[in-house]
Amino acid sequence: MTVRIFVPRDAAALALGAKRVAKALAAEIEARGIDARIVRNGSRGLHWLEPMVEVETAQGRIAYGPVKASDVASLLDAGLTTGGNHALYLGKTEELPFLKSQTRLTFARCGIVDPLSLSDYRAHDGLKGLERAVTLAPADIVAHVTESGLRGRGGAGFPTGIKWKTVLDTPGARKYIVCNADEGDSGTFADRMIMEGDPFVLIEGMAIAGVATGATKGFVYIRSEYPHAIATMTEAVEIAHKAGVLGTSVLGSAHAFDIEIRTGAGAYVCGEETALLNSLEGKRGIVRAKPPLPAHKGLFDCPTVINNVISLASVPIIMDKGPAYYKDFGMGRSRGTIPIQIAGNVRHRGLYEAAFGLTLGEIVDDIGGGTASGRPVKAVQVGGPLGAYFPRALFDTPFDYEAFAAKDGLIGHAGIVVFDDTADMLKQARFAMEFCAIESCGKCTPCRIGSTRGVEVADKIAQGIEPEKNRELLADLCNTMKFGSLCALGGFTPYPVTSAMTHFPDDFSRAPLVEAAE
Ligand SMILES: Cc1cc2nc3c(=O)[nH]c(=O)nc-3n(C[C@H](O)[C@H](O)[C@H](O)COP(=O)(O)O)c2cc1C
Ligand code: SF4
Repeated sequence: MTVRIFVPRDAAALALGAKRVAKALAAEIEARGIDARIVRNGSRGLHWLEPMVEVETAQGRIAYGPVKASDVASLLDAGLTTGGNHALYLGKTEELPFLKSQTRLTFARCGIVDPLSLSDYRAHDGLKGLERAVTLAPADIVAHVTESGLRGRGGAGFPTGIKWKTVLDTPGARKYIVCNADEGDSGTFADRMIMEGDPFVLIEGMAIAGVATGATKGFVYIRSEYPHAIATMTEAVEIAHKAGVLGTSVLGSAHAFDIEIRTGAGAYVCGEETALLNSLEGKRGIVRAKPPLPAHKGLFDCPTVINNVISLASVPIIMDKGPAYYKDFGMGRSRGTIPIQIAGNVRHRGLYEAAFGLTLGEIVDDIGGGTASGRPVKAVQVGGPLGAYFPRALFDTPFDYEAFAAKDGLIGHAGIVVFDDTADMLKQARFAMEFCAIESCGKCTPCRIGSTRGVEVADKIAQGIEPEKNRELLADLCNTMKFGSLCALGGFTPYPVTSAMTHFPDDFSRAPLVEAAE
């Protein structure tokens, strides 16, 4: 029987040499006359073990990693095709603690299936949600999504069902589903992993959104820095179209829905929904004032659903297993699961999907294994470049939208970046202001001018120039940006700055001239 060997095609694995591993493996398999087939799967999300090679055996899948091309011959000598022992042997994939303790709903298939095989997708419960959706009235689909408690995973946590209902209830000759795959937050990669590892789940989620709201056209707006995701999504859309999953009659129903892939040009602000719409329309990516909401007047002035990749990719399982099943996971008003992306200075970097409610300490210390450097954790930035820095004293905060907000933080797209005790929080605060200055769309003054002034004030504090006065000025500036900015880029940049000042005051009062002399 042909043995299946899995070598990820995920960009993180490729960056670590997966292509060379696959090539070496193919050459050795041929030279040795082994009856084996290489499947280029998505990543399982254990990035510190990539490229992680798996082989399908009678006992289940066995993992090896991190594998280099030069390991391939010795792996085959050791009996890779039957799960033989080797220095890189990790054991049964499903038993690896980092994977075993997860609750994978959205990522259930990622790393398991061949991403571009629709039959593999079907064999792993794919399309069941859409099959169900086409038998229901649009309002019933919307009610399911509302009942599930799903909230937008792009950052704001807005209830997805309410957004869909607004579009359903808004009359329009044309309506659109726009998938936000700009994924600009530092330390985040969940959207990319889904698009590269299980693209059909996003296509299915978008089609369900179309059927639910009466939209017949969808766009996936993917950042240009994601060439592999763009290629995989483009191919997957073609396959889905040919198979009748997309097109004039979705799965043979009376609903039409099609998808186009569009590429962004690399501006962080184009992840903001209204700037994204401008960019999609071929205009400069500048933020639009709201109202009107995109749900009323969005793409080309038509009612438009804009959702993050993970929000849309979570819908198929909700439609398949029912809202109660999904809602059963989580805590408070944060229902279901959240794919946490663990990055930065941390031992176990990767994607960890779990029900809401784990504490930050459990994520960083137990799951992440502490810092990669072995030094104490100093701070964790949660929620991308606009997220707050949390000190160890706040590690008991549960991963929950409201719990983080109560501590002046945010979950955002659920990326966490770990820093050890060598991090200089004044530099991080300055970086937040600098990032905002570079990425600002320029439409409103607090953000456009305030961020540049913020950099200058941070520099003055670092130089020891009237430190107390400048600390007050920085706090005041943050206040103006927070309450005076049009969108969350200017409005949330104060979060990393004020959290750094509040939790790490020593870094803002050190004698800076010592550093300059170093
Ligand atoms: C500056 C800025 C950047 C953003 N970047 C992204 C992004 O890359 N991806 C994303 O899904 N949402 C991003 N958002 C949030 C979107 O504006 C919007 O809330 C989201 O796409 C809605 O989808 P959801 O309800 O499924 O979360 C960003 C917001 C701001 C203010
Ligand atoms: S806050 Fe910044 S990015 Fe947002 S609209 Fe104003 S200038 Fe543009």
